[in-house]
This record gives sequence, C-alpha cells and structure tokens, in this order.
Amino acid sequence: MALSPEQRAARLALAREVAREAGALALGYFERLATLAVEFKQGGQDVVSIADREVEVLIRARIAAAFPDDGVLGEEDGLAEGSSGVLWVVDPIDGTSPFLNGLSHWCVSIAVAVDGEAEIGVIYAPVSNEFFSAAKDMGAFLNDAPIEVAPSRSIEDGLLGFGSNHRIPPADVGRFVTALLDAGGMFYRNGSGALMLAYVACGRLVGYYEQHINSWDCLAGLCLIREAGGWHNDFLAGEGMLRGNRIAGGAPQMKAGLIALLERVGASTETIA
Ligand code: IPD
Ligand code: CA
Repeated sequence: MALSPEQRAARLALAREVAREAGALALGYFERLATLAVEFKQGGQDVVSIADREVEVLIRARIAAAFPDDGVLGEEDGLAEGSSGVLWVVDPIDGTSPFLNGLSHWCVSIAVAVDGEAEIGVIYAPVSNEFFSAAKDMGAFLNDAPIEVAPSRSIEDGLLGFGSNHRIPPADVGRFVTALLDAGGMFYRNGSGALMLAYVACGRLVGYYEQHINSWDCLAGLCLIREAGGWHNDFLAGEGMLRGNRIAGGAPQMKAGLIALLERVGASTETIA
C-alpha cells in the first residue's frame, strides 16, 4: 500500500504535534531529575526511568485516538500490530543515558513506516528547542527552515557520528575507530543515535555509523537524511524493523570513504555498497 499525500500529511501533522507534547512532558521530568529512580534494563549502561515509560504511553494514546488502525512499535512497550499497513516507530527518549546523567543530548523520535520505508521522520530535542521534521518527497526541515546534508565534507575532513553500545564486541568498536583515525577522520558521539542522525541531515556531521542500532533509534533520522539529499543503507533488510541492524548513512560524497574504512576493518559492505 502507499499513503496518499493527504494521508501522509495528516500523519505528519500528528507526529509533529505529538513530538512537541511528548518533548514537553520529558522536559518536565528532566527538570526534576534527582527524583527519578533509574532502572537497569540489562547491563550497567542500559538504563530507563519512568520518564521513558510515561512519554511512550502518551505518544501511544495520541496515535491510537487519531489512527486506531495503525500499528505502533516503541522502545519501551514493543509492537502493537495494526490493520492499516502503517507502522509508527517511536522512541520516547533517545539518549536515555545522557538524559539520566543530566546532559542535554536527548530527543523524542517518531517515524511512520509504510511498506518498509520510513515516510515520515520527526525528531525533537527539547533542551536546545530544535525540531527536525521530514516527509517523503517533501524535504527536511529544522525549525521550519529547509536543511541539507554536508555539501562537500568527506570522511577525512568532517565529523562522523559514531554509535557504540554494549550489544557489540568492544574490539569491533576499537578496530573501527582506529581505522577512522588512521584515515585522518574523527568520530563524534553524544549518546543519542537519533539526534546524531538529525545532525547528519542538517550538515553538522558528515555521516553516521553504528554496528547495531534498533529501528526506533534511527528510522526518523533515516527519513530526515534521505529527504535532506543524503543516502543510507538498507537498514530494514532482513529483520531490521524488529531486531535492529547495522546503520550507515550520510552525505553522498562520503559513501566511498566509509566503504573503504569498512573494507579495511574486514566488515561486510553488504546493504551499504
Ligand atoms: C541508544 C542511543 C545510542 C545508540 C544505541 C541506542 P537509548 O538508545 O541511541 O546513541 O548508540 O544503539 O540503543 O538507550 O538512548 O534509547
Ligand atoms: Ca533509543
């Protein structure tokens, strides 16, 4: 199925409205951080709090009220299948670790996927009040001004957003970072994959790479990058939507440099080249 322009516009309007409301709710929790109990999901770095859970509850309620037949996949409550063929992919707070450590780099990320493609992507960073949004064939925007990926930076002279987590072997992280530095490049990590992808879309970062990321962390960012003139790998290949995948994307001219880096560390370039 494909969304008509009217159906897409209606969902974009809701995504924008809900991201603002969710961001305001999350910001309220952030401002009283000391009162929040931190829970550990798996290891010592994978954290969550009532803020993540309550913000997702809010987003799900708004979607269900407006589009009851749409499905929702969220970081905290998993998959609720719908019957319309439209799937909302939601991260209530991406950058939970920075959030719970009192750092400003976190955001609400909302994507709408149809037929294996992210057609809508909205990312709101309440502390900086930066609002990113994009929709298929409609371009990408930061606070209503059009944005584009870095026009000329390469792996060597731009900053590469880099995601690292405890789901992948530390040695792989080391190998990739070593190769990047050897090539004259530099990595940037702020603890929110979604926000770093938005930074790629507006040209602050030349690209993004992470060996494994979940769909709720990145689908909105992928839509933003594509609509801002960039490229990304086939993230949803295989079971990417439910189990996550490797992610790579950025400005067109950095793709060859990234592929060369991956070949150097012996990583597969499948879904990228
Ligand atoms: C994480 C962040 C991080 C990325 C991880 C994600 P969370 O999400 O996006 O930057 O490297 O892969 O799991 O835990 O902050 O929602
Ligand atoms: Ca996340």
